Amino acid sequence: MLSSLSSTISRLNLFCPKPSIPHSLSSCLKTLKPQPIIPRWSCLHSLSTHSTSRLSTSLKPQLDALVSKDDLVVLGIETSCDDTAAAVVRGNGEILSQVVSSQADLLAKYGGVAPKMAEEAHSQVIDQVVQEALDKANLTARNLSAVAVTIGPGLSLCLRVGVRKARKLAGSFNLPIISIHHMEAHCLVARLIERELEFPFMALLISGGHNLLILAHDLGHYIQLGTTIDDAIGEAYDKTAKWLGLDMSRSGGPALEELAREGDAESIKFSTPMKQHRDCNFSYAGLKTQVRLAIGSHNINAEIPISSASSQDRRSRADIAASFQRVAVLHLEERCDRAIEWARKIEPSIKHLVVSGGVASNQYVRARLEHVVKKNNLQLVCPPPKLCTDNGVMVAWTGIEHFCMGRFDPPPPADEHEDYVYDLRPRWPLGEEYAEGRSEARSLRTARIHPSLTSIIQSSLQQQ
Ligand code: KG4
Ligand code: ZN
Repeated sequence: MLSSLSSTISRLNLFCPKPSIPHSLSSCLKTLKPQPIIPRWSCLHSLSTHSTSRLSTSLKPQLDALVSKDDLVVLGIETSCDDTAAAVVRGNGEILSQVVSSQADLLAKYGGVAPKMAEEAHSQVIDQVVQEALDKANLTARNLSAVAVTIGPGLSLCLRVGVRKARKLAGSFNLPIISIHHMEAHCLVARLIERELEFPFMALLISGGHNLLILAHDLGHYIQLGTTIDDAIGEAYDKTAKWLGLDMSRSGGPALEELAREGDAESIKFSTPMKQHRDCNFSYAGLKTQVRLAIGSHNINAEIPISSASSQDRRSRADIAASFQRVAVLHLEERCDRAIEWARKIEPSIKHLVVSGGVASNQYVRARLEHVVKKNNLQLVCPPPKLCTDNGVMVAWTGIEHFCMGRFDPPPPADEHEDYVYDLRPRWPLGEEYAEGRSEARSLRTARIHPSLTSIIQSSLQQQ
């Protein structure tokens, strides 16, 4: 345990001349008898049979004294869905590199993510993406302090590719591993952008697979105020774009946003979802059906790409796009309004609403939510579009946040077998549900759900 701990610690000072371990710590290391270390991150990694050596709480003060945050350099790897991403970020938030390889051609071909194809596409580029991230940062893996990787939620087949790469690299270079929750990463990247953003704050996380309204109490401690009962908003954008015959090569969202600018958002009166449910949950399945019906009644043929449509046909498609977008976002606005009210009852001191995830890169979404936030005397924190869509920076940064709290796993063995059963969490809630806000409309599919990140961290804290 001691050798692994001291090598971990020495690695943290990489950018300084090789440090001599301060006397107090070196004597502490010498005198430290092998004893059970209380793992703070261990439950996150339930299969980590090698997790015998962890940074103990008792050593954390020494580590803090030894290491400045600036000296940390973390590689983040993200493969939970259709983007293969890697980035290197320094502990002070400096982004040293960022690489994203998207599966645009596959998206366009299948009109969505096909897991097996996506897995293959990740496997083909993962080595190259990680190498490019290191090269652009002017570093080698030897220079890293740790590797952070998304373990869920997402598609198992895809998650596995990133986790396998992360563990291989970490095993070869004796680096600690930090397991990351994809939605927490979308949320926390806002703290890299806005250094004034302190807990507690609220977050609306909107992506292809998730719609979450959360109250972030503290790092790793989230209350879920609302989630989707069926589809996420990104899925509704993607399907609407596909049915309107739009170019899906950058995913449906950006194409729909563009076309909507030409249309009349009041021309089709779609009804806003879940008006009768006075909670903070979301539903987009019904709106998708309404869009489908409108497309049918306007005789739009998705086989004819928008680029070949007549001007009248294009006008109809633009009207549907704009009307869809208005109602899809109105649903977000209404839920945010109520969630702010709820959150203030729990935490009167909140000052910020973070909006992140792929759909948050949409300018109309940002403008409408800016309005909601102003009305409620809060401040909007919305990362730049490149950091809203899936990226490695958010994973590396979230890794840094947890690493600084002593939450990480020790390096995997260098000779870990390719068939090793990784701890992947395809369906993994971020926070505990706000009990007073529980809705009858919620039909949570409970099968194979892991305990939430928050409950895992809370129970490990209680054991200390
Ligand atoms: O967070 P993300 O990159 O991946 C997931 O975690 O799902 O989000 C992807 C989603 C897709 O559904 C995509 O269509 C949507 O974000 N998206 C947008 C825009 N850019 C990406 N939706 C609306 N407007 C955009 N500009
Ligand atoms: Zn995402």
